Amino acid sequence: MTRTNVIELGDCTHHNLKQLKKINSVVFPVSYNDRFYLDVLESGELAKLAYYNDIVVGAVCCRIDSIANQRRLYIMTLGCLYPYRRLGIGTVMLNHILKYVEADANFDNIFLHVQVNNESAIEFYKKFGFEVVDLKKNYYKRIEPADAYVLQKNLKDGSTTIQNGNSIDH
Ligand SMILES: CC(C)(COP(=O)(O)OP(=O)(O)OC[C@H]1O[C@@H](n2cnc3c(N)ncnc32)[C@H](O)[C@@H]1OP(=O)(O)O)[C@@H](O)C(=O)NCCC(=O)NCCS
Repeated sequence: MTRTNVIELGDCTHHNLKQLKKINSVVFPVSYNDRFYLDVLESGELAKLAYYNDIVVGAVCCRIDSIANQRRLYIMTLGCLYPYRRLGIGTVMLNHILKYVEADANFDNIFLHVQVNNESAIEFYKKFGFEVVDLKKNYYKRIEPADAYVLQKNLKDGSTTIQNGNSIDH
């Protein structure tokens, strides 16, 4: 009997926070502090675990950034374990976040940083209409290459691109 593979998203709670930490530590070359994870617990729909046939294989964590009269959504982390890539799990996570900002209808744009050599992530985000809008020299403090691109998708017509996105301390 063949079984259809199921991709689902679930809430981040105190009970599964260790799984989120494990996913992030394996998927990302930077580590995130206790403050990051405390904030995640308060993030509601902006932080989700991704399950593939009931196994946690990925996660997305975002926060709302309000600066210079703009309301923006910042994707802090979005990733899945290497063996589970190209199965549509990233798409499910990003679509969830895009639905969130569309339902709110009050965001100017959605943005994130990626290491300049992260070609798979750049291709992934471009597929969803994100564009490279800035290059941050020496953005990362402890990894090479240290430079990051800012990828952004505008959500409102006529929105101006902010060039200095706030970010957590890497
Ligand atoms: C970027 C990432 C999240 C994509 O997740 P994923 O589950 O593999 O993505 P999907 O399977 O949904 O891919 C959707 C589309 O994105 C594009 N894409 C994804 N990975 C790609 C790659 N390595 N090369 C080229 N295009 C790619 C393709 O168009 C793909 O569609 P297709 O498989 O039908 O060709 C994943 O590579 C990852 O976890 N990377 C490490 C973490 C990271 O760098 N995150 C980004 C910064 S927050």
